[in-house]
Amino acid sequence: MKILLVGAYGQLGTDLRKTAPECVKLICPKKYEFNILNKEAVKNFISKVEVDLIINCAAYVKVDFAEEEVKEAFSVNSYGIKTIIDNLNKEIPIVHISTDYVFDGKKWKYKEPYYEDDVPNPINIYGISKLAGEYILRNYIEKHYIIRSSSLYGVAGASGKGGNFPYTILKKAKAGEKLRVIDDIYMVPTHTYDLAKGIWKLITDEYPYGIYHITHTGYCSWYEFAKKILEFAGLSADIEPVKHTEFPTKAKRPLWSVLGTKKGIELGPWEEGLERFIKMIS
Ligand SMILES: NC(=O)c1ccc[n+]([C@@H]2O[C@H](COP(=O)([O-])OP(=O)(O)OC[C@H]3O[C@@H](n4cnc5c(N)ncnc54)[C@H](OP(=O)(O)O)[C@@H]3O)[C@@H](O)[C@H]2O)c1
Repeated sequence: MKILLVGAYGQLGTDLRKTAPECVKLICPKKYEFNILNKEAVKNFISKVEVDLIINCAAYVKVDFAEEEVKEAFSVNSYGIKTIIDNLNKEIPIVHISTDYVFDGKKWKYKEPYYEDDVPNPINIYGISKLAGEYILRNYIEKHYIIRSSSLYGVAGASGKGGNFPYTILKKAKAGEKLRVIDDIYMVPTHTYDLAKGIWKLITDEYPYGIYHITHTGYCSWYEFAKKILEFAGLSADIEPVKHTEFPTKAKRPLWSVLGTKKGIELGPWEEGLERFIKMIS
């Protein structure tokens, strides 16, 4: 199977490259060769390669900046997917990565995960632009997988964010800084190495097309996540739980963005994914 991987050198893209099954031949253009903001470049590249499937990991991921850089966020997260579609044989399946931030967090009341059939209602520009991308894909390409995941971390770090949460916590703890971490926003931290393996399973086992939530199981607050990072890394630090209102941000965030699935691909407990990550970077 010949697969074009867009955004191949980002955090998730890197782990998709590392975990690709043997039956897959990956084509991984650099951003200068396949910039989804550049229609001509996309058209030229696609006309030169014959692929059986596309995985799109390219995204604008700066949640707070997106509140100001609305055009940039929509250009990559919504319009970019249309550019790929416009230059493609419509029979070629597309795997597209989306986010827990398409939900508003109101399920917090019930402490119940968001499932694939829950109605999205994003509360920030990033989430709105990602949901628009989902709708574009669903409406133009029948053979699609939309994969929503949450709070990603991987060895490569998110290139769009300049790292990830575990790296920030480890760096601050090693520098002896006091840590103040939000304890009233809940999510499922997800290791991109495990997510990548889940995505390959979805593709190679030929699951039915549609929307999939793929994350680890369980959930925690950012404070609980930070405590586990320190525990697994064998570090001690002065760490204090704080309310999200103590860290005002430009973008509103859902206070509860725990995802669950009714479709069968689960990555195991979030603590185990984190333990694997800490071992990988040690
Ligand atoms: N990070 C999270 O916590 C999180 C949570 C839920 C869902 N997601 C979703 O997961 C996916 C992967 O995220 P990630 O953490 O791997 O982020 P990432 O490391 O920032 O990866 C995004 C990739 O997209 C590339 N890209 C950006 N603009 C592009 C363009 N115009 N044309 C081509 N490529 C472009 C980036 O290249 P450059 O670095 O060269 O710009 C980078 O390689 C995204 O769809 C994101 O929305 C992320």
